[in-house]
Amino acid sequence: MIYLDNAATSWPKPPQVALAMQRFLTEVGATPGRSGHRLSIEAGRIVLEAREAIAELFSVRDPLRVAFTANATEALNTVLLGFPVPGEHVLVSGLEHNSVMRPLTELHRRGTDHTVLPHAGDGTLDPDEIRKAVRPGTVLLVLNHGSNVSGRVLPVREAGRIARELGLYVLVDAAQTAGCIPIDLERDGLDFLAFTGHKGLYGPQGTGGFVLSERVDPRHVRPLMTGGTGSRSEHTVHPDFLPDRFEAGTPNSVGLAGLAAGVRFVLEKGVDEIRRHEEMLVARLAAGLADIDGVTLHGMARPGERTCTLSFCMRGIATSDVALRLDEEFAVLARAGLQCAPLAHRTLATFPEGTVRFSPGFFNTSEEMDAAVKAVATLAAAARRSAG
Ligand code: ALA
Repeated sequence: MIYLDNAATSWPKPPQVALAMQRFLTEVGATPGRSGHRLSIEAGRIVLEAREAIAELFSVRDPLRVAFTANATEALNTVLLGFPVPGEHVLVSGLEHNSVMRPLTELHRRGTDHTVLPHAGDGTLDPDEIRKAVRPGTVLLVLNHGSNVSGRVLPVREAGRIARELGLYVLVDAAQTAGCIPIDLERDGLDFLAFTGHKGLYGPQGTGGFVLSERVDPRHVRPLMTGGTGSRSEHTVHPDFLPDRFEAGTPNSVGLAGLAAGVRFVLEKGVDEIRRHEEMLVARLAAGLADIDGVTLHGMARPGERTCTLSFCMRGIATSDVALRLDEEFAVLARAGLQCAPLAHRTLATFPEGTVRFSPGFFNTSEEMDAAVKAVATLAAAARRSAG
């Protein structure tokens, strides 16, 4: 079997991830930051380890500025629904996932508008478009760091610089890039960074979070949920300090144990080494697919400007049939359709049919890329024959 669906969730995970989770369940098990006994203290230490590992990965000085959530969607919702106020305005790239577009649609009903920045047909974003689209009341720029459809990496540093010049805050969705593309919160000029734990950080599903830069006052972001935090229990008013402000309720400690191990793996391996391997894989895949008569790649960016994800369509076969046949006949596992990102497909002119998406990961090999290309070539030859 060849797993090419790492943009949905990375698999396999490094073995230390499952071991850390097993250890938590069998030897620790307690609630962090609550009870004060030895097991609770150990659980708290593990959660702190995850927080520190994330802070190290994104060059964040204060690990308390890392807040954990169930996924990137919850992190994005927290910032999008909690930061702008009615009457304010948000700018957004044309490559966003529904985890951004649906909260923005909800926000529109509450009186906060947004504008989608124009892109070139291949998905390129000229950061100067930000200057043209900004208007009185614009407070936030939202950028998808890496498209989950085409793999294009948006120029967040340049866009962040322009946004700051214009007095905007910058929210980056790093669901597809955390662990695969270097990110430095301060150097890149980002204010909010949303991440998921189960993709390039190799943690389990149900983990994620966001980071707030030193520029952001947490009191200016309303939490999505309030409740028990194990702190200031004498008050019914929810704490306004980090990370408690955004972490009501018992956390997914077993998941965070796995996430800590996953991020340690990334830090030990090095994001640059991971990126080198993944760039080799995607380059090989793209070159092989581009050579097949009847295959069109969509929104493919240049080396250095892309993740390990690519999208294509095949003449004469619906994208869902391609994915089904790749699975059933060749044991190649891909994702077809709109990948929860209809806006990105509109930008790339692949809406509503969508694309077939291959997203290899660090544990794939070049031989597997060749086998996947061969499988697509076989389907393309069969489609050409049946078209006569
Ligand atoms: N957003 C994930 C994907 O692109 C789930 O597949």
